Amino acid sequence: MAMPAPPSPLQRLSLRLLGLGCVGVLALLILALTGQAALGPVLVMSALVGGLTVWLALPPRSGAIGQVSEANSASARPSQPISPPFETILRSLPEPVMVIAAQEIDDLAGQRIHFANAAAKDFFKIQDDGALLITAIRNPDVLEVVDEALFGNLAGEVAYELGGAQDRYLRAFVRPLGAALDGRRLALLMMRDETNARRNERMRADFLANASHELRTPLASLSGFIDTLRGHARDDAAARDRFLQIMATQAERMSRLIDDLLSLSRIELNEHIAPEGSVDLSQVVADVVDSIGPLLAESQVQLVLDVPRPGLAMAVGDRDQMVQVAQNLIDNAVKYSRGRGPVRVECLTNLTGEAAIALREPRAARLALLTPDDVNDGRYVCLRVTDSGPGIARQYLPRLAERFYRVEGQKSGERSGTGLGLAIVKHIINRHRGGFGVESLAGSGASFVAYFPVQPEA
Ligand SMILES: Nc1ncnc2c1ncn2[C@@H]1O[C@H](COP(=O)(O)OP(=O)(O)OP(=O)(O)O)[C@@H](O)[C@H]1O
Ligand SMILES: [Mg+2]
Repeated sequence: MAMPAPPSPLQRLSLRLLGLGCVGVLALLILALTGQAALGPVLVMSALVGGLTVWLALPPRSGAIGQVSEANSASARPSQPISPPFETILRSLPEPVMVIAAQEIDDLAGQRIHFANAAAKDFFKIQDDGALLITAIRNPDVLEVVDEALFGNLAGEVAYELGGAQDRYLRAFVRPLGAALDGRRLALLMMRDETNARRNERMRADFLANASHELRTPLASLSGFIDTLRGHARDDAAARDRFLQIMATQAERMSRLIDDLLSLSRIELNEHIAPEGSVDLSQVVADVVDSIGPLLAESQVQLVLDVPRPGLAMAVGDRDQMVQVAQNLIDNAVKYSRGRGPVRVECLTNLTGEAAIALREPRAARLALLTPDDVNDGRYVCLRVTDSGPGIARQYLPRLAERFYRVEGQKSGERSGTGLGLAIVKHIINRHRGGFGVESLAGSGASFVAYFPVQPEA
């Protein structure tokens, strides 16, 4: 009986390529269909490598990015059951992907970007295919790993930091792709921007460290006084009263801190759901002014109100949260100006975002702490609180809304706070899709502006 002829080496290669390609197709399809970023770089890489194998095995089309050999193109005829548009998929992947080509080993400056998808072009500001890789990526470790993939057939991974105004953390994945028809070696380079993940990680660690520190300080003071009261102050009535008073203040501080932390986490939980209520900002200010009566009397600060009649400053919002915003800003102005002049509270309505944070004092420094998306088109109801206190030096402005941040060396008297007030304000305003800004001339006072979307007239 005639035996079937064994497959030729060419056929075997074609079959293997097809097999690899199918795995790639499957992975790419899963990725494309589910949009699962969580599937991670491994899947992406295997998908890309597998996918590219098929793509390299497909016959070249005009304008196609691959250069293929006869043997490879023979393995993927149009009769193939699935042929998704790999080039389009590659081009539209959200992560930067490049194919690097080079002719000579160790010539790191000679590596060229043979292909870059839209994300890579955008990220690295690449104008055309064919540019030198070194014009986009200067990190020597990445260039080295690319060289190893090109000429040593080795896969590699490099995490590195990009300097500049803001640090960025990137991770480069490199895979060998073999040789092109013209003899040049090819490698796949995919980048992942890990800046946000790193930043979140650091923020979480800082937050925990700060929160425990802030709680531990009053707790240590409480335990110290308990020991004293049990010890030598046991029979000293005057000392006992004094210590109990301090303990009450510390306990109150701890409870305020816990309230603020809970409030912050509640706001964050709902931050993606914009409130829909109709709130009169003039009324909010009137309520806050009533509630801080005792503080005003104690600090002897004069409050000047400039608010329209009820019903004229209507915002879309959550009343309790808007009260929290006004309370924090007025409380700060009173607390930090320490009787150095009046505190002015204004409500303005129907302003653009730009007009809301327009500079009042030309010599002052101004910073937008939060800008809404539609700052140019939207109309806002604005709360501006201006004091004549010590103000805040320009270099401290960017950190004002960070949790636990307090300007160095600033004394706020006995009512020293937790440094959470402005962080809460910023999150509330963000939930309202509003904006938040500050202007200050050190030595002459500060002016904080919170603006909320205006309630369209019924
Ligand atoms: N009107 C102001 N004038 C001068 N400095 C201010 C003013 N408002 C805020 N600051 C500075 O910004 C820091 C952060 O303010 P924030 O309201 O977040 O915290 P806090 O007032 O210290 O504490 P909390 O509000 O949680 O009780 C303050 O510690 C203070 O240094
Ligand atoms: Mg405060």
